Amino acid sequence: MDHVATMHVSLLLLLAAAYQAAGLPAAVLQADADRYKLPAELLVGAGVSALQSEGAWNASGKVESAADHLIHALGASTFPVSHDVAADSYHRFREDVAMAAKLKLKLYKFSMSWARILPTADAKVNKTEGVQFYHDLISEIKAHNMTPMVILYHFDHPLALENEFMGWQSSKMVDRFAEYARFVFDEYGQEVDLWASINEPNMYCTYFNLMYVEANLRKKDEIDMYTCLHNNILAHKEAYKIFKEGRASGKLGFTSLIMHGKPATTSAEDVYAADSFNAIQTGMLLHPVVYGDYPEEVKLLVGSKLPVFTTEEQKDLKDSTDFIGYNLYFGMEVTYKHPAASPTLHEGGGGAAANVMMGVIMAVLQDLPFVNVAMGGGGSGAAAAFTSVMTDGARKTLDQLTG
Ligand SMILES: *[C@@H]1O[C@H](CO)[C@@H](O)[C@H](O)[C@H]1NC(C)=O
Ligand SMILES: *[C@@H]1O[C@H](CO)[C@@H](O)[C@H](O)[C@H]1NC(C)=O
Repeated sequence: MDHVATMHVSLLLLLAAAYQAAGLPAAVLQADADRYKLPAELLVGAGVSALQSEGAWNASGKVESAADHLIHALGASTFPVSHDVAADSYHRFREDVAMAAKLKLKLYKFSMSWARILPTADAKVNKTEGVQFYHDLISEIKAHNMTPMVILYHFDHPLALENEFMGWQSSKMVDRFAEYARFVFDEYGQEVDLWASINEPNMYCTYFNLMYVEANLRKKDEIDMYTCLHNNILAHKEAYKIFKEGRASGKLGFTSLIMHGKPATTSAEDVYAADSFNAIQTGMLLHPVVYGDYPEEVKLLVGSKLPVFTTEEQKDLKDSTDFIGYNLYFGMEVTYKHPAASPTLHEGGGGAAANVMMGVIMAVLQDLPFVNVAMGGGGSGAAAAFTSVMTDGARKTLDQLTG
């Protein structure tokens, strides 16, 4: 439950930061009050993921998911918070929903655990108790007059898929995800209108890839960020197709982690470095589901390492999302550096948090030898990334997405 409460607080801080960013004196705000009124259709809410909130990792027929397996292999020293129990939301979801309602939230976003719904990844076996759990959760949210928003997958696929073909490193994952998506839409499609397919493939394909190596479950040359992202994008496309076949209404979106890179100066070099960073960090994930292919600059930067979409795939990918879900973490300042110079990435202390963010950033930088990044917003060290705010980060990100 602590975890749920933390998520709520983070959201409120984010909103507060957005207002602070406007930086306008109170008199102006008052004179122009209507401009700043929140639209009635805005759904302010909070989100939780199954892996971080449900706990009950082995309850009612569920077995180790790939993520459980990884966390168990890493051990408590790397993951001091026990995901086995987490916030115990699997058992205490009614309390969590009641707390969200008490905060007057309008939207309750959660992820379904692929491994809880289909422990062996086989959609033809009998339904587990886990399937009923999500019916109960959805009913509870609606009973509290909140809108449920479901994300199909947030890092926790059945371990069988990892053992059979290394999960997202294989294109076989695309069909298996489609099978799961079809099951979920058939089962819950009439109960929920707001959906997203996959949470932050750009977090999974950087951080989780690295963690698999750290846990000695994979060798470094067995993992590739680009292949992983490519399969995630194709899996989203399949889910979108299936969703639209079965649903006349309802929306299905795609989500991205965004760590916006802002050029440190207005020099052409810094601007180019920041654009390149943003193109790989976010653009290569979102561009295909809107325009049907990777951005041209990503093709140039990554070269032959970048997988290629077939003409057929490009056609289906174009406009294959009803909205873009973006999770804004923090902003970073980007400078150009000579490709031969070593990176001067701000690192600082920060334990586990630093490891996470450094791994993610270094993976993004693998084909950007001319890019240097530092945490923005006045903090120093990677841990500060989570607490410091780049006040114009949200605006710059929206400009980037809509520009
Ligand atoms: C589930 O895992 C816990 C440890 O996290 C263990 O104590 C318990 O016995 C397990 N339950 C079942 C049903 O396997
Ligand atoms: C599935 O459920 C049916 C009906 O309850 C039962 O007869 C059958 O044995 C079950 N199959 C498996 C594999 O559990």
